[in-house]
Amino acid sequence: MKVVLITGCSTGIGFATAKQFSLGDYQVIATARSPKSSDELVELGEKENVLLKELDVCDQESVDKLFDELNNFEIDVLVNNAGVGGSGSVENTEIEFAKLLMETNYFGALRMMKKVIPSMRSRRSGAIINVSSQAGRRPFALMSHYCATKYALNGLSESMAHELAQFNIRVTLIEPGTVITPIFGKGNSIPEDEKDYSIFQGRMIRQVTKGLTELGCGPDIIAKCMVDFVTTKDPKLHYLIDKDAVDNVDIYNKYGPETWVSDGKILDDEEFFSTMKDRYGYEIG
Ligand SMILES: NC(=O)c1ccc[n+]([C@@H]2O[C@H](COP(=O)([O-])OP(=O)(O)OC[C@H]3O[C@@H](n4cnc5c(N)ncnc54)[C@H](OP(=O)(O)O)[C@@H]3O)[C@@H](O)[C@H]2O)c1
Repeated sequence: MKVVLITGCSTGIGFATAKQFSLGDYQVIATARSPKSSDELVELGEKENVLLKELDVCDQESVDKLFDELNNFEIDVLVNNAGVGGSGSVENTEIEFAKLLMETNYFGALRMMKKVIPSMRSRRSGAIINVSSQAGRRPFALMSHYCATKYALNGLSESMAHELAQFNIRVTLIEPGTVITPIFGKGNSIPEDEKDYSIFQGRMIRQVTKGLTELGCGPDIIAKCMVDFVTTKDPKLHYLIDKDAVDNVDIYNKYGPETWVSDGKILDDEEFFSTMKDRYGYEIG
């Protein structure tokens, strides 16, 4: 039975992934900062092949403690899912906010990978799944810090995939578009006074609303993609998922970065959204 370790299982994609793996022939180690505070996770933990463990990926001591406790397990699959979001202009967000995002979304994943690679390398087998985002493949206004963490995670993972291939360790990036999860209610930093950037705030709210009501998907689709990756004979380095993510990255690449920059000068909302409609072929907000 393969052993899969997943971070950030209290809600959203992490919970759906733990559940999905638990349906197969896997021993699931589902971790969360406070496993007992999530009723659905506690219930999942009652299954024979699910073990709940406490883990804060920002805290090296917590990571060390987990691996000490898991001494008897060799991890076959690591899913780095734990992540935080939040928005705000670069001008008005605090450095501490940027550090929290980087500490969780980038260093959190790195800490976990450094723990599992030695055993995977010596066994010449393993899979590492890093949950990145479409925001690691194209920029979004007022999400600079979040994008920076996901671009960083992508650079790390792509380089590692090459480095670890000789040891039969497969690495992938799951790059979701909008997924309906509690992350949107957690909003780690939304500066109160964003008046000079309010036009982007309004557009972001319109696009997120459209994503959550029409264009996005539920976390189960993302979870299934991860389970499939572990066994497929044809693993990919990137999984942009669902259609909204594919379109967002395709359109960005098709029109190019200079177009993206000059789009930032369109101050009229109707002109902005009608330009987008021409490019996408449907309303994005
Ligand atoms: N939802 C989307 O539209 C979307 C799109 C693209 C990518 N993603 C990525 O998908 C991943 C999961 O997000 P989600 O949408 O499922 O959001 P979510 O429901 O908020 O789940 C995030 C999980 O990460 C955990 N977490 C946060 N900080 C942590 C830390 N320091 N140590 C351990 N766990 C921590 C949270 O735990 P607590 O309950 O303790 O806070 C929660 O379990 C993230 O990496 C996110 O960037 C999401």
